[in-house]
Amino acid sequence: MDSVRLAVFSILISGSWCSVTKDLKFPEWFKFGAATAAYQVEGGWNSSDKGENTWDRLFHSNPEFSSQDNGDVACDSYHLWRRDIEMAEELGLDIYRFSLSWARLLPNGFANKISEDGKRYYNNLIDGLLEKGIEPVVTLYHFDLPQILQDLGGWANPLISDWFADYARVAFTLFGDRVKTWLTINEPLGFCDTGYSKQQAPYIDGEVIAKYLCNKYTLISHAKAWRIYDEEFRPRYHGKVSLATIFNWYEPATPEDKEITDLMREYWEGRFAYPIFSKEGGWPPTLEKFMADKSKQEGYSRSRLPPLTAEEIELIRGTYDFYGLNHYLSRRIRKARPGEKIGTWPLYGSDEINIQMESDPSWETTGLDWFPINPAGLRKQLHWLNQTYGVNEVMITENGYLDLDKHLDDTARIKYMRDYLEQIQLAIADGINVTAYMAWSLMDNLEWLGGYGASFGLYQVDFTDDNRTRTPRESARYYSRVTRTRSLHHDHEGLNYV
Ligand SMILES: *[C@@H]1O[C@H](CO)[C@@H](O)[C@H](O)[C@H]1NC(C)=O
Ligand SMILES: *[C@@H]1O[C@H](CO)[C@@H](O)[C@H](O)[C@H]1NC(C)=O
Ligand SMILES: *[C@@H]1O[C@H](CO)[C@@H](O)[C@H](O)[C@H]1NC(C)=O
Ligand SMILES: *[C@@H]1O[C@H](CO)[C@@H](O)[C@H](O)[C@H]1NC(C)=O
Repeated sequence: MDSVRLAVFSILISGSWCSVTKDLKFPEWFKFGAATAAYQVEGGWNSSDKGENTWDRLFHSNPEFSSQDNGDVACDSYHLWRRDIEMAEELGLDIYRFSLSWARLLPNGFANKISEDGKRYYNNLIDGLLEKGIEPVVTLYHFDLPQILQDLGGWANPLISDWFADYARVAFTLFGDRVKTWLTINEPLGFCDTGYSKQQAPYIDGEVIAKYLCNKYTLISHAKAWRIYDEEFRPRYHGKVSLATIFNWYEPATPEDKEITDLMREYWEGRFAYPIFSKEGGWPPTLEKFMADKSKQEGYSRSRLPPLTAEEIELIRGTYDFYGLNHYLSRRIRKARPGEKIGTWPLYGSDEINIQMESDPSWETTGLDWFPINPAGLRKQLHWLNQTYGVNEVMITENGYLDLDKHLDDTARIKYMRDYLEQIQLAIADGINVTAYMAWSLMDNLEWLGGYGASFGLYQVDFTDDNRTRTPRESARYYSRVTRTRSLHHDHEGLNYV
């Protein structure tokens, strides 16, 4: 680490946020990985005794979607998990992040019945990875709630925290001897804010009230699961538990927009992370007041952001062993102009806090207006996290390039990965303890309501072929070179961007 720090230090003298052009080594302890999620890859939606989940229901019952792509088969990892392990090995991964399907493991949603088939499937995957020396990183919940629990109100019902705690205990009991890194919940914003604004399952119109209930009860669910691990399993297994928070880098469009950008960060990330990672716990103070005042003006008798009791604040505070960061892009934030039509949350703007999101003209783009590329934003983000929470360890639990084109020669993805990984090297040299990088994604998969049209995969998957044949892209070859040599290869052949 010291040699890295010295090498980078000399480069930093000549320009603080600029790029490095020579190859540095990643430290020995740094772990390279890739990630997937159950509903996006598994398929086998009705295999054995698996229960129905919210995505099965949404795709099968909503006429808007039923004729389109769905996750019935997806990448068929339910059958092709051996090939997935082989790919992780080809890439030279240290870790592979995947999620458990709650309804596959607990067909009733509740812990009264554990599926033998579900147990077998995940045991095979975990043991198969370990045999190849690849550590499993397991997410308990990645957007696919058992439908039976959704019918009881899902994440808007306070009882969910007990149902989730029971599920977590089952998973820790079955797999905790071999799984040492756990993520309770992936991107609560990704299903509270979007699931209750008809952009994701459960596809309910609940932006005013329900999404904030979901927000609160995901925090309590996470906290209970963390405490169960801490008390009942950590003494035996010595693992780590956190959650994965989606957090892009946000900059004020003008100096006058600084305050609204700070509020926006509290609204985007603070609602899901501040109660867990801040020293004092509870909702982010500025946002809490903003929501209370606004709710009052609107005639509500209490804040739409449901208060946390002193006990709840203590329950949630400090329930982490590292910060799990899903980071993809940067945006500029400005106050909306009077009368201006505000873009849709969470990618374009927010009616609730009256902001618009923009891109900086200097940032490159993926071709999608909401997905500008700004690698330096990741390093700024990591510094922001250190300053705001003082967390002692950060794992990048997702980062990846969304391509509208599904070709194999994905030069733009290589450049994206290289440039973001370089910012991680710089952050490490700055003294930020980033210990892992999990590329999203191991392979092309179901991009939720976006279907199979675009790709995030290091491996291309042929969704027209019953075998779901996986083919390495150029980026897979590049990444395997990075993992094996632990350096970035700025000279990677075929690429010319110095
Ligand atoms: C499982 O779902 C498929 C559609 O994906 C259907 O063809 C098949 O009949 C179902 N199997 C069972 C046992 O229900
Ligand atoms: C970074 O995190 C690892 C894993 O938790 C820990 O062992 C190490 O001491 C940390 N390093 C620093 C400099 O805080
Ligand atoms: C992390 O934040 C603390 C507290 O503000 C600060 O003292 C420390 O220098 C920061 N570390 C880095 C690497 O910037
Ligand atoms: C699918 O796999 C089977 C069994 O390995 C093989 O016989 C068949 O040729 C494959 N089909 C395609 C299109 O690759």
